[in-house]
Amino acid sequence: MSLDDLYRRVIMDHYQQPRNRGKMEDGAVTVDLNNPTCGDRISVQMRIKDDTIEEAKFLGEGCSISLASASMMTEAVKGLSVDQALHLVDLFSRMMQGEEVDTDEFPLEDIEALQGVANFPARIKCATLAWKALEKGAGESGERLDSP
Ligand code: FES
Repeated sequence: MSLDDLYRRVIMDHYQQPRNRGKMEDGAVTVDLNNPTCGDRISVQMRIKDDTIEEAKFLGEGCSISLASASMMTEAVKGLSVDQALHLVDLFSRMMQGEEVDTDEFPLEDIEALQGVANFPARIKCATLAWKALEKGAGESGERLDSP
């Protein structure tokens, strides 16, 4: 099997059997975003306690790339500090810009399967949607912690 086929399988696995799809009832930071290029929406929730992302979930509609990316992101951030999560957002965004990044830094190796998306500019917004929601939610939690 070629590496492209393997990556495709990993993406389809997350699309067809999404991890952490669902809704938390309370105590979670919720960020709703839409992809301006297609109108698809995603809602990402995080439960953050003592600067640690204890749980992350998502709901939404979108293409295989966007939903697989959300599945991977929510799986990867569990147990990370807000700073570690924001570092991951930066790493992922650099990978989407076609930069060589150290993919070993991703806590979930499946994320590497999305690196080929960088070659398809029209799909980059699909892949980054959930990560933008993470960035916004983690940023907001930081603001709340800093406020008196
Ligand atoms: Fe809408 Fe990918 S086409 S999120």
